[in-house]
Amino acid sequence: MADIRNIVILTGAGISAESGLRTFRAEDGLWEDYPVEDVATPEAFRRDPELVQRFYDARRAGVREAQPNPAHEALARLDRAWAQMPGRELLIVTQNIDDLHERAGAARVLHMHGEALSVWCMACDARHRWEGTLLDGPPCPSCGAVALRPDIVWFGEMPYRMDEIFAALARADLFVSIGTSGAVYPAAGFVQQAAAHGARTVELNLERSQGSHWFDESRLGPASVLVPAWVDEVLEAAR
Ligand code: APR
Repeated sequence: MADIRNIVILTGAGISAESGLRTFRAEDGLWEDYPVEDVATPEAFRRDPELVQRFYDARRAGVREAQPNPAHEALARLDRAWAQMPGRELLIVTQNIDDLHERAGAARVLHMHGEALSVWCMACDARHRWEGTLLDGPPCPSCGAVALRPDIVWFGEMPYRMDEIFAALARADLFVSIGTSGAVYPAAGFVQQAAAHGARTVELNLERSQGSHWFDESRLGPASVLVPAWVDEVLEAAR
């Protein structure tokens, strides 16, 4: 693992599973109870805004109750250590809408699918941190319009900050994917992007992801065990 300078870490719902937040595609996953097309598309929001607001109000409440687990803490430790070493880059790209990376202490976190604790005003385009509910139709703090929606990238919408992500992938020496099924693009294609630019690629997941064959290495097990051990290895090799 010598000569690792730039690291991109992709995280998915699996890293927050041990914090009590449900993943999407397991047998008991969220999409089993709430079909994607009912709650996670712009069409669903137009058709039945109350159902969608209720769904994300529940996600927001769940995120506030959850606590970071040892996997989030280990990535925050890596982020802090890497920041102390001149000339090295690190970016945590998360598909998760929870803020557990930040609450564990990570600074360089990019939420490509939006954030549960953020709302977006459809009238004035402002975004605000939001811990309460939207079902009751609160006014936008900026313009007063009753036009707030969850600041979530729904299916059919463009993920956030793709230019920054692709630039980081192009510079990466090491790409690691943690707790994601590899079912949703563009995130599922990051491993190929990173590999095409010469990065070593590793997945840490409970089971093989859909794109498992693209990775140089797959380690299978719970994130709370695999991630701290992997971080120790990276930091040891960087000494
Ligand atoms: N440790 C590691 N991996 C785990 C754990 C755990 N404790 N528990 C579950 N996993 C793995 C599962 O085996 C699965 O491969 O995490 C993965 C979770 O996959 P998904 O539920 O599909 O979640 P994710 O990949 O984040 O979904 C991507 O899909 O619906 C959208 O916008 C949503 O951001 C989400 C995107």
